[in-house]
Amino acid sequence: MRRIVSTFMAVVLVCGLFVYASHGNVGMVQAKSSKDVLVVYFSATGTTKKVAKKIAKIEGADIYRIKAAQKYTSDDLDWNDSPSRSTKEQNDPSARPQIGSKSISLDGYKKIYIGYPIWWGEEPRILDTFVESYNFDGKTVIPFCTSSSSGLGRSGKNLADNAKSGNWLEGKRFGAGTSKEDVAAWISEQ
Ligand SMILES: Cc1cc2nc3c(=O)[nH]c(=O)nc-3n(C[C@H](O)[C@H](O)[C@H](O)COP(=O)(O)O)c2cc1C
Repeated sequence: MRRIVSTFMAVVLVCGLFVYASHGNVGMVQAKSSKDVLVVYFSATGTTKKVAKKIAKIEGADIYRIKAAQKYTSDDLDWNDSPSRSTKEQNDPSARPQIGSKSISLDGYKKIYIGYPIWWGEEPRILDTFVESYNFDGKTVIPFCTSSSSGLGRSGKNLADNAKSGNWLEGKRFGAGTSKEDVAAWISEQ
């Protein structure tokens, strides 16, 4: 009986270790993605996320979400309130809100889409934090944004200037109701 119990315990222990290790928490090397397209996005209220997911699906790409270390509350996003966090950040081109998501290796990616909502006609400053943290040499970078009505504006150029590396394409603005077909048509034009 004791033997059966100890065998059972050993099996449980091995299975437990396997599950733990497969989640990459014991210093094991995680398999590197074989994909060469990456979709990076920041989305405060989910609109850009939907477009990012469509792009990733069509391109068969990996996806990476930029999360703010300090999450934006609805008060922070109140663009009718001049002392709100987002308004203050957008009024200060040197503001660099901290990123809370784990950093990502860009090795192996040849094409990188970067998506964000338009805030006061520009990219949210956290996008500048992102592009200044990575090297885009040898990569094609394609900005995309969502907005109520504004276009891409200066955002693509701001990001390219701040990144100082990468071959930045012009990019595209999408509305909230963008379909998968609209996204696919844009991708096929590139
Ligand atoms: C702080 C703030 C500023 C905004 N500024 C603009 C703007 O200048 N022009 C515009 O068309 N929409 C503006 N919007 C609307 C967002 O761009 C739009 O709702 C976007 O699709 C939201 O994307 P998300 O859900 O991924 O965060 C603003 C929204 C916020 C919260």
